[in-house]
Amino acid sequence: MVRLWCSSLSITLLFQQLIRLCISWSVQTPTPPLPILPLPTYSQLKWQQREIIMFFHFGVNTFSDREWGTGQENPAIFNPTGLNTTQWATVAADAGVSLMILTAKHHDGFCLWPSKYTDHSVISSPWQGGKGDVVQDFVNAATAQGIDVGVYLSPWDRHDPRYGNDLLYNQYYLAQLQELLKKYPNVREIWFDGAKGANAKNMTYYFSDWFSMVKELQSSINIFSDAGPDVRWVGDETGSAGYTCWSTINRTSLSIGSPDIIQYINTGDPKGTDWLPAECDVSIRKGWFWHKSESPKKLSELLDIYYNSVGRNCVLLLNVPPNTSGLITEVDANRLKEFRSAIKTIFHQNLAEDCFVKVSSQRGGFGPEKMLDSDHLWSYWAPRDDDDEKDHWVEIWAKEGRLRFNVVRIQEAIGLGQRIKRHEIYVDGKLIIKATTVGYKRLHRLDGGEVHARGVRIRIRKARGVPLISSIGLHYDPFWHSKFTVS
Ligand SMILES: *[C@@H]1O[C@H](CO)[C@@H](O)[C@H](O)[C@H]1NC(C)=O
Ligand SMILES: *[C@@H]1O[C@H](CO)[C@@H](O)[C@H](O)[C@H]1NC(C)=O
Ligand SMILES: *[C@@H]1O[C@H](CO)[C@@H](O)[C@H](O)[C@H]1NC(C)=O
Ligand SMILES: *[C@@H]1O[C@H](CO)[C@@H](O)[C@H](O)[C@H]1NC(C)=O
Repeated sequence: MVRLWCSSLSITLLFQQLIRLCISWSVQTPTPPLPILPLPTYSQLKWQQREIIMFFHFGVNTFSDREWGTGQENPAIFNPTGLNTTQWATVAADAGVSLMILTAKHHDGFCLWPSKYTDHSVISSPWQGGKGDVVQDFVNAATAQGIDVGVYLSPWDRHDPRYGNDLLYNQYYLAQLQELLKKYPNVREIWFDGAKGANAKNMTYYFSDWFSMVKELQSSINIFSDAGPDVRWVGDETGSAGYTCWSTINRTSLSIGSPDIIQYINTGDPKGTDWLPAECDVSIRKGWFWHKSESPKKLSELLDIYYNSVGRNCVLLLNVPPNTSGLITEVDANRLKEFRSAIKTIFHQNLAEDCFVKVSSQRGGFGPEKMLDSDHLWSYWAPRDDDDEKDHWVEIWAKEGRLRFNVVRIQEAIGLGQRIKRHEIYVDGKLIIKATTVGYKRLHRLDGGEVHARGVRIRIRKARGVPLISSIGLHYDPFWHSKFTVS
């Protein structure tokens, strides 16, 4: 009896072992790694992927040849003889832009739509006999081209007498916000400009009321201000992000006016508790509004801006001001086309696609090939979990001969959090770049100029958790002429 019991016990044990083996043999789809908080929202991810968006500064300043109107302008000066928002949208579409933002009201207080709360608007101008609505035309034209819209409503108002009275002005401002967001659906970004003259009247803006109202009326909108809540200002108007640029920051530490704040919003914070990526606003000309005396920046300047904004984990908001005819000037439109075409030329070919790509380790199902497909968000290389403290790297080797390139592109899978703190690039074993953050997109133009090399190694020296890389690229930029040549 005893003996029989024993053997039936061992048979049971054996059986259990077999079941365990079967479970481990059965193929399980490998799961993605855990995210590292904070994460972007759906709308913030969409915004980031736009890369370049366009700003349109238009209003009484266009006609008075000023940058900041006084608020005393006669609305009669607003009279664009050939206003054609379809031309604006065509220019934007040709530039490959997916979002266009209009100054519905600038600091001078003149409204480009017929607001019922003031007569300082298109109602009082001769344009279309006072029956026109630039915002509506703008929305219609953009929508017809499949382009999303954004609006800018200046908090600082030099015309309205309620400005300076906290209660009355906040009521007026909120009334206009409601008016805009009810009248024009599907607004994707709203811009709260922090600009205010040194001698402006004292005023407390009820930001919490404004932001809550905006989200109530249109939940998919991204709110831009110096301090978010969805998109932050980069801290300058030159179109240049910090060499280090985190999309994370502590919102509670952001109060504009404190001395170190510009530095803080410029670089972000690796310990930041809020996902609040930076937008780089810059004008294609010197001024934000059109001035006869100004001309557009050179292509090389626009490309520098691109590398310093999009190439540093930001979205570039490029302003292209319509002229007094109500049209984008031809030289600006042509410069934009050149810009678009240059970006295509540089990035259409990725030399890494024809190379051997090796990695330090890999999590099952998340191999190096994931860095070479067209999904730059949810398809990524991941090292093994237990590789936390190790040196992570990616190597790209020519199958034969040498590679000719001068740009290295790295992209993180930001859907799972921004992670990389420090990285290095080696060309044929030689360290040539030491850098910090990567984020959605990091572009390195090689200072040595054109490189002819057998291989490149990207080393991740420090990260929050394991790095997750969604895309890598080696590109050749024929527009980049640096002083030195290394080969
Ligand atoms: C407006 O601009 C579009 C695109 O450039 C053009 O096709 C159209 O003819 C223009 N409309 C008028 C009235 O000039
Ligand atoms: C503005 O308000 C602040 C705080 O209430 C006050 O300290 C300051 O003196 C005011 N400045 C002006 C110009 O009224
Ligand atoms: C941001 O918040 C985190 C978490 O509370 C904290 O560790 C970090 O020091 C803060 N950063 C700054 C600059 O205050
Ligand atoms: C505005 O731009 C259009 C397109 O280039 C041009 O035809 C028009 O003359 C310009 N208006 C002024 C005032 O320069």
